[in-house]
Amino acid sequence: MSLRESGLRRRADRALERQLAYQRAKADRVNGREQEVVAAMIADSSKVRRTLEAVRPIADDARVLEVGSGAHGLIFYFGAKDGVGVDPLADHYAELFPAWQKRARTIAAPGERLPFENASFDIVLCDNVVDHAENPRLILEEIARVMAPDAMLYFEVNIHHPFYHAAASVHAAWRALGIPFEITPFADHTVHLTLARRALCSRGCRSASSAKPTISRR
Ligand SMILES: C[S@@+](CC[C@H](N)C(=O)[O-])C[C@H]1O[C@@H](n2cnc3c(N)ncnc32)[C@H](O)[C@@H]1O
Repeated sequence: MSLRESGLRRRADRALERQLAYQRAKADRVNGREQEVVAAMIADSSKVRRTLEAVRPIADDARVLEVGSGAHGLIFYFGAKDGVGVDPLADHYAELFPAWQKRARTIAAPGERLPFENASFDIVLCDNVVDHAENPRLILEEIARVMAPDAMLYFEVNIHHPFYHAAASVHAAWRALGIPFEITPFADHTVHLTLARRALCSRGCRSASSAKPTISRR
């Protein structure tokens, strides 16, 4: 493994640790207020479903996969009879948020190694995930592999300003030197962005709502 690869692996592991700590704290905060979270999740999932339905109707028996289904992903209220979410932290999320995590089958696995046969899904959702993962390109290749020939993909990724990338790199350098000072927005909660942008453009992803190659921002 090259120095760069081992750096990415360390950063990806750290990003998962941070994500889990964040979701544990959030589980405490939302305890007793689950209905508010559910309402927001229903709204998000419905919006994405409508976006896809504007392209093509979704069959009742559509096989739907969410890659990086997270603590509050789209799959839980997407209305899929046969919905499955994959996330390395899926088992933790199932314990922390049983109110909705049980609404879909979830599997603890990385998007870089999806545990499915080729062409297994009619719809794949991936929302704000690849910049948090070790190898965005591999995730995109895996998504392409498991999509049936006429499948639809809903894909969102955050593209950060180059200033963010530079600031986060400097931040990572002083952390690597053992300096404990941390500025939260620049801390290593993602594995970074230029890689995601390159991988995306080279695969020519298209948005569901326009026919032009785009990278959606949010
Ligand atoms: C910002 S959260 C987004 C979660 C969810 N998609 C949503 O929008 O609520 C990023 C998610 O990516 C997951 N993740 C990190 N590395 C991953 C990987 N290699 N493959 C799939 N998911 C990964 C994290 O566990 C986390 O749940």
